[in-house]
Order: sequence, then structure tokens, then C-alpha cells
Amino acid sequence: VTEPTDLLIYGAGGFGREVAAWAEESSWLGHRVRLRGFIDDGAPVTAIDERPVLSIEQATAYWPDARFAIAVGTSSIRERLAAVAEAAGLRASPPLVHPSVITAGRSTIGDGSIVCPGTTLTTEVEIGRHVIVNLHCTVTHDTRLDDFVTLSPGTAISGNVTVRRGAFMGTGAITINGAPGHPLIIGEGATVGAGSVVMKDVPAGATVFGAPARPMLSQHASST
Ligand SMILES: CC(C)(COP(=O)(O)OP(=O)(O)OC[C@H]1O[C@@H](n2cnc3c(N)ncnc32)[C@H](O)[C@@H]1OP(=O)(O)O)[C@@H](O)C(=O)NCCC(=O)NCCS
Repeated sequence: VTEPTDLLIYGAGGFGREVAAWAEESSWLGHRVRLRGFIDDGAPVTAIDERPVLSIEQATAYWPDARFAIAVGTSSIRERLAAVAEAAGLRASPPLVHPSVITAGRSTIGDGSIVCPGTTLTTEVEIGRHVIVNLHCTVTHDTRLDDFVTLSPGTAISGNVTVRRGAFMGTGAITINGAPGHPLIIGEGATVGAGSVVMKDVPAGATVFGAPARPMLSQHASST
């Protein structure tokens, strides 16, 4: 039995506290973690449930060998924080996968990714690094979630879909399926609004919402 890896959760906000509640139950591919604390430069508290909330400098001084997972839902912020943590010498943790998550095998998950309670990943699901799959999502066969993708709670991704780097799907968003060899594509950095139904490819950087999902006029687009 190997010793658990020391874990620091980057982000002590609502999602960070949610992940902290179960992180030590994660044992994806036998990797276990021991939660040492949080990294957050802007937190109004110095501890949460007796675990310290540290600056990046403090964290690397106390736990130089710790691994980090970023519990921040906004894809672009997560990408920036990953660069900060890596520049400080920290490495991404093994994936944090809640024990209730159902997988049918032959799925892969990259380091730093977080897969929350109640989610089902079926087969041939390829998940990159620093991806967040929030509560009660379904991600089905032959689907790719590239690095820094965020699926908010209740997202349903049908088969043969590719979600490109840094794309963000709001709560309860749904995609129809693609076809073998012709995946439905959510483009790099795209934002899909809460409750949307995606019927066709979403261009890189676009914001879409509604059922069927349609592009948001650029003067309204947010900077998620
Ligand atoms: C799509 C989205 C990114 C747009 O954000 P925004 O640029 O700030 O847009 P606004 O809130 O200014 O809304 C602009 C218009 O679009 C409408 N709209 C926005 N999101 C919508 C959605 N998901 N479905 C239907 N209509 C929507 C608004 O009602 C508003 O309409 P109006 O101009 O007639 O009043 C955002 O609304 C959204 O859905 N974000 C997902 C949030 C989420 O799920 N977070 C998960 C946290 S765990």
C-alpha cells in the first residue's frame, strides 16, 4: 500500500469547499490523496475545517512535494492558475474522482481533473488535464473533453462529441450526439449557456444558449 499523495486544492471558494468534502475518498486507479490545505490568495479566512488556506508562496514552502487540483469553475481562470502553480514548482494531482462515479472502463482522465459525485462516464471517454466534470453529469461513449474543459452540474454529453480546450458548459446543458468519425464539436473556449440544447457544432470562442442553442450577439457575450 503506497502512502497517499499530499493534495492542495487551489481555490477556497464554494466549489473548492465542495471538493474538499470528498477529495480523500477519491482513489482513481489506486491513487489516494491526503488533503493538506487550500491555496487561495484572496480568501477571507485562514483555515477551513482546520485545514490552512495559504498563499502560493506559503503553500510551496510548507508542502513543496504536494500536488494541486484547481477547484475553480471558470476555465480561463483555471488555465491561468495552473500556470502559476507549475511556475511555483507544484505538479498536478492524480485525478480526483468521487467513488460514486460510474465508469464502464476504457476511459482515461488526465492529472488535475475533478469528477464529482453522481456522474456517469461510459466507455471510451477521454478526459484531458484540469477538466472539471461537476455533479450529476453524463458523458457517454466516444467523447473527448480536452484540457481545461468545464462541465457544470447536470450537463449531458451524448456519444461522439468533442469538447475542445477550455470550453465551458453551463448547468443542465445538453448536446445531441455526433456520428462515428464525425464528432459534434464544441469549439475551443466556447461557452454554452445553462439549460441549452446544442444541436450542431459550436465555433471556437462563441457563446451560445437556448434550445436549440444559437449564438449570442457579440455585444452581449461574457468573458467567461
Ligand atoms: C450564456 C451566459 C454565459 C450569458 O451570460 P451574459 O453574457 O452575462 O448574458 P446576460 O446575463 O447579460 O444575458 C443576456 C440575455 O440572454 C439571456 N440568456 C442568458 N443566458 C441564457 C440561457 N442560458 N438561456 C436562455 N437565455 C439566456 C438573458 O435572459 C438576457 O436576455 P435579455 O437581453 O432579453 O434580458 C450565461 O447566461 C449562462 O448561461 N452561464 C452559465 C452559468 C452556469 O451554468 N454556471 C454554472 C455554475 S456551477
